[in-house]
Amino acid sequence: MNVNKNYKNLNESYLFSNIAKKVNDFALKNSDMEIIKLGIGDVTLPLCPAIIEALHNAVDEMARKETFKGYGPEQGYDFLKTSIQNYYKNFEVSLDLNEIFISDGAKSDLGNILDLFDKDNSCLVPDPVYPVYVDTNMMAGRRIIFIDANEENEFLPLPNEKIKADLIYICSPNNPTGAVYNKEQLKKWVDYALKNNSIILFDSAYESFIDDNNLPRSIYEIEGAKNCAIEFCSFSKTAGFTGTRCGYTIVPKELVFDNMSLNKMWLRRQTTKFNGVPYIVQKAAAAVFTEEGQKQIHENLNYYKQNAKVISGTLDKLNIKYTGGKNSPYIWLKCPNNMNSWDFFDLLLNKIGVVGTPGSGFGKNGENWFRLTSFNTLEKTQEAMERFYNLFK
Ligand code: MLT
Repeated sequence: MNVNKNYKNLNESYLFSNIAKKVNDFALKNSDMEIIKLGIGDVTLPLCPAIIEALHNAVDEMARKETFKGYGPEQGYDFLKTSIQNYYKNFEVSLDLNEIFISDGAKSDLGNILDLFDKDNSCLVPDPVYPVYVDTNMMAGRRIIFIDANEENEFLPLPNEKIKADLIYICSPNNPTGAVYNKEQLKKWVDYALKNNSIILFDSAYESFIDDNNLPRSIYEIEGAKNCAIEFCSFSKTAGFTGTRCGYTIVPKELVFDNMSLNKMWLRRQTTKFNGVPYIVQKAAAAVFTEEGQKQIHENLNYYKQNAKVISGTLDKLNIKYTGGKNSPYIWLKCPNNMNSWDFFDLLLNKIGVVGTPGSGFGKNGENWFRLTSFNTLEKTQEAMERFYNLFK
């Protein structure tokens, strides 16, 4: 028996588990300090009433013989897929129902999709980046090419014809930097992928934070994208499903390589390795798209957007450089006095009990940068930023 030795190349623990452990250790020793977490992008508002009502109704259905559900379709119920299909019509994107696959969240699918691709493919990831893209490819022993996302390119790198890559990860609005590609920039990536026979893995988990109607919310708003892109999305940040778990992946039928349809391969993979998302959770997710549901989730999204303003307003007052905060729940700031990211993390935790995420945890270009999220409560965000202001003024 040989173990997968690629695991040796991974960091000892996943970034957010590592931070959680550090914070817990600190909390045990400093019980008098109220710790405010603006670190992991986890939501704080409860599920909205339309979703709760749908959940209750679905639970009641499970209690009656006539409406009880056993195994569902591995790729999701049509009622939810139809709601998603209609939602995409808002961006003038037309999808077939069998191009939509319901999952338990974008993170799992972003890892699982790699089953479809040869190990010898190279993959291109921006640096800094959501660690899941890197770690899942490292586990598979795949070659990773990093491209720089930095101040010079406003954290929005564009393709370089000299670099050839088979799989390309793009997250827009970006985690961690909050930067958002416009249509012209995304078109450059689509053209590159079409020319080089590459696949774009497009993570749109934060699309619902986009306020600017000129910015693309789906890669399929870009001509040609259906021939080169798979899109991953999630209800986690849009509707507070981080603990409830539901997302979806779009695999267009046009994606045929070596006479093999990626859509059919993904269906085959899911029907073999996945038994679907619970019926009650899919009912809850479908409620997100009702008129009431949309109104209520937008109230929640506006609440987080208000928090982002509290954070960016404080940074403005302190003349600290940052990206994001607009069209994104993340604020990516330059550590004052060019401090190292982990030193800055320790300083904030020790002096003011505020937790963020060190930029270097997302890659080498994240060094000297730091990520704050707008997902805590307004009161705690205000309190955290008041402490922050007093520390740096
Ligand atoms: C983050 O903080 O980057 C996100 O919560 C991670 C995730 O969605 O898995």
